Amino acid sequence: MEQWYPVAWAKDVIDLKPLSITLWDRHCVLFRDRSTGIYVVMDDICPHRAAPLSEGRLYERETDGEKETVLECGYHGWRFNCDGRCVDIPVVPLEKRIPAAADVGVVYATHLSINGLIFMWFGDRLKADESKIPLPKELVQADESERLFYRDSFRYFPISFSTLHENVADPTHVSWAHHGTGRDNRKTVKRSGGVDIVHENLTEGYVHARKYNQDSSKGWSDIFFQTPTAVHYAIKLGDTKSKIFLLSWTVPISWDKSKVFTLFSYLNPPKIVRLVKWFSPRWYEHTITNLVLDGDPGMLQKQYAHLQAVERDGYGSAWKKEYTLASGKWDTSVMKVRQFFDMHGWSMPYATPIPSDARSERILTRVVNDRYENHTRECQACTAALHNFTRGRTAALVGAGVSGAAALFSGIVFAALSIGGAAFAPLPLRLAGFGGTVLCILLLRLAKMLHYFMTLMTYTDIAYDLNHAD
Ligand code: FES
Ligand SMILES: [Fe+2]
Repeated sequence: MEQWYPVAWAKDVIDLKPLSITLWDRHCVLFRDRSTGIYVVMDDICPHRAAPLSEGRLYERETDGEKETVLECGYHGWRFNCDGRCVDIPVVPLEKRIPAAADVGVVYATHLSINGLIFMWFGDRLKADESKIPLPKELVQADESERLFYRDSFRYFPISFSTLHENVADPTHVSWAHHGTGRDNRKTVKRSGGVDIVHENLTEGYVHARKYNQDSSKGWSDIFFQTPTAVHYAIKLGDTKSKIFLLSWTVPISWDKSKVFTLFSYLNPPKIVRLVKWFSPRWYEHTITNLVLDGDPGMLQKQYAHLQAVERDGYGSAWKKEYTLASGKWDTSVMKVRQFFDMHGWSMPYATPIPSDARSERILTRVVNDRYENHTRECQACTAALHNFTRGRTAALVGAGVSGAAALFSGIVFAALSIGGAAFAPLPLRLAGFGGTVLCILLLRLAKMLHYFMTLMTYTDIAYDLNHAD
């Protein structure tokens, strides 16, 4: 449990705005120290009367010529520096010494990693060991010119940490759950397929497995599980120098809520991939990631609810009673994840006792796949895109109304002139009628397209439709 956990992408942390994050039910506040550029994570509880500091304000102040970022509690204005030290209590005379009890409880170690992924060390900051950050060394050590990062995203799931881990580490579900939205296809899966274990050390929480492609001469996928969050796929593409990394980190938020961070990376990418990346805004990449991820939560939540209904026993044995694992190597990685939790789950939060309100009811897929709640609300790129699409749609509808009215008005005038015996309508009238009609149709089409984009940020059924199309 005392490990590194990813908590946010730097691009989702707004300057001088505290962000609330949760890990293992521990509420923390995250912000960037403007003076040093370091990301700060501390307990989200004000020592005064326990208000959340993430609802407060951040500002820069200057003392003795030095600038420092200060977090001010929104309730009574106590102020804290980036070390969690209380530096000012507004109602107390300045000369009075502020006791250590007024400092924030815990300040955590953080690390800004590849592509701006912020990790925090959940534990004693003096023991934070950066060599333990779960990242592929090959990618971290590669030269900037050799690697390309794309689709840096995240998503919340209303299920436990262990259930989600089991899903992410299982490559064999992709052909079915993501059929139509991913690369694999349920119609071409080999019966002899599966996963081989290359190396494992479950005591240390490390497994290296390998899955061969349909045609094994065309490369393979290496799967690395590194305790307690990381599942990394490294895909070798035939004889080329290129390699794709599909990185994910599964993070426990609370008993029945988890968050997955995803990052795709290319080592030695073809030029066309760089070009596509250059043209792809972040919100667009997120719509693709969400399209793929829409295939899982509806099923996973119901699977999780069933295990909870059978036996509320933490990471324990419900799965042993309820699962009939496939023979051969199909479910190898599922076994490894479950063995890991059998071995280490007792030392993690939520092992026992189980919270009495642990969920065992099914949640509608419509609710589980609410993209606004599970992604957009915390994503700066998608929030901005949704805002712009909403405004654009309103403008397009207003424009369509005005141009439609102009066309209608010119039509009425034209009809009146015809009744009055005029042979031809004046040119401006004809132009207004024709132009207004065309513009109205175009703007209505634009409004429809923007509405479609808005559904990609909120809720859409297209993953289900693609998956069930053939
Ligand atoms: S609760 Fe934070 S200043 Fe009072
Ligand atoms: Fe997004």
